[in-house]
Amino acid sequence: MRIGFIGGGNMATALISSLFASRHVVDQVQVADPNAEARAFLQKRWPVACYEQASDAIKGMDAIVLAVKPQVLSYVLDEIQDLVTDQQLIISIVAGIPTSKIAAHLNANPPIVRTMPNTPALIGLGITAMYARVNCSLAQRELSQNLMESAGEIVWLDKEKLLDVVTALSGSGPAYFYYLVECLRNAGTRLGLPADVAARLALHTAHGSSVMAVQSDTDVIELRQQVTTPGGTTQAAIETLNDGHFEQLIDSAITAATRRGQELAGDETDS
Ligand SMILES: NC(=O)c1ccc[n+]([C@@H]2O[C@H](COP(=O)([O-])OP(=O)(O)OC[C@H]3O[C@@H](n4cnc5c(N)ncnc54)[C@H](OP(=O)(O)O)[C@@H]3O)[C@@H](O)[C@H]2O)c1
Repeated sequence: MRIGFIGGGNMATALISSLFASRHVVDQVQVADPNAEARAFLQKRWPVACYEQASDAIKGMDAIVLAVKPQVLSYVLDEIQDLVTDQQLIISIVAGIPTSKIAAHLNANPPIVRTMPNTPALIGLGITAMYARVNCSLAQRELSQNLMESAGEIVWLDKEKLLDVVTALSGSGPAYFYYLVECLRNAGTRLGLPADVAARLALHTAHGSSVMAVQSDTDVIELRQQVTTPGGTTQAAIETLNDGHFEQLIDSAITAATRRGQELAGDETDS
């Protein structure tokens, strides 16, 4: 595969790193980034060709990955609008920008795959939701999947609008888990544990529980029940969470994040 990245920041670096570490054959990777330090960093670590201008990085590539911040995207699309061909696959990782907006900016009619990764992709443990417009061939879907899969798990969606829910759930999701760890840590400290001990207990409980749940065929409800002895300590905590309407609170939080994603996207998604 020959891939041109526009933007050589955190997410592009994570994908490039994972791609070269994966089993996939990588024929050519080119990156455009105005930042000389970012270019030097990438060229030092991987066999990539780096350019200052986006127009130089996309020539002859099978796929073009849009990996810039949302506020820079229009500028980038202006720069490449006459250069992209109908055969080049566009893979966008830009949060909240509908494929219709990208398509409207380009003169050709290239296939577009929109993705929503999350930050654990930086360590190869991300999960990315993907949506392909109808003009994407199977081979192009596979190419985009190979790229995103190298940084973790992937799921395909058949409705682009659902990416707003994904953004609320798994895109923002790491922050919710960090918040829970923070709350557990603070509670443990307030109840007398040394702060560093409370922090380690909270963090490693989160890590161990999530690895165990991922590796297990048992549903999380049952895993929770296995830890919850009737009349015991866990039940006392769960009942307190239920009394505080924990599940409804999480539901409201994800609904609020989804709504915010729709507002930011201008609610112009195709389907
Ligand atoms: N990080 C996440 O958790 C996450 C999750 C899901 C989706 N995303 C999406 O991924 C995209 C990239 O995020 P990131 O965290 O990788 O951002 P980032 O680290 O800021 O990377 C963006 C890079 O693009 C460069 N750039 C700016 N203008 C450019 C241009 N005209 N042509 C080429 N490159 C240009 C920036 O250079 P300068 O620094 O010099 O401006 C920067 O190196 C965003 O749209 C974000 O919404 C991120």
